[in-house]
Amino acid sequence: MIKGCIFDLDGVIVDTAKYHYLAWKKLADELGFEFTKSDNERLKGVSRMRSLDILLKIGNKQFDKETKLKFAENKNKEYLNYIMKMTPDEILPGVIEFLEELQNKKIKIALGSASKNAMTILTQLKLTKYFDTVIDGTQVSKTKPNPEVFIKGAQSLNLKPEECLVFEDAEAGIEAAISGNFKSVGIGSIDNLGKANYIMQGFDGITFEKIVKLIN
Ligand code: BG6
Ligand code: MG
Repeated sequence: MIKGCIFDLDGVIVDTAKYHYLAWKKLADELGFEFTKSDNERLKGVSRMRSLDILLKIGNKQFDKETKLKFAENKNKEYLNYIMKMTPDEILPGVIEFLEELQNKKIKIALGSASKNAMTILTQLKLTKYFDTVIDGTQVSKTKPNPEVFIKGAQSLNLKPEECLVFEDAEAGIEAAISGNFKSVGIGSIDNLGKANYIMQGFDGITFEKIVKLIN
């Protein structure tokens, strides 16, 4: 029986991928190589430093650790400029209704995100009140596909993994859910999320009740 839901943030609750893209693209432009939107798909669900490594590999560039830390810091400043301008109407369609349904049904709610900016984003979007617990990139040492973030989320809700449903838009996130023994819902395409228990385009018009029926 599902007693809790664990949500990824970027790409599930809000489309921040476009801001990550613009901020990484600024660095690529400065370093003189092309970084496309399709390249950006490879950074979804991936930690900040790992994203930088992938980006530099695309541009065939190598730098020492100190320079890379400076690049990541500058990228984050640029990213936060976009984040601080976000408003609650950027919350993806149907998300608030879904969270309210969970609250009404006394289903516990956790955030399980690789982002170190998760609390800033939830605050900016006025979403903190919905979450019983928030596990983010500041609290995990192993990133998805390792299930650490979801396991910590379930523990914090006092639930077993099999009692929780994970919502994810990244392939690494679905893999993390499966290896942690969680049921999962993929938000996006069957091409990369095919291993999820259920796949949907978003929360618009969908209810928790309906999903639970479909995954059992
Ligand atoms: C994930 C995003 O949620 O967080 C990744 O999908 C991002 O694209 C990662 O790199 C880390 O985010 P942040 O905010 O800590 O740089
Ligand atoms: Mg995501």
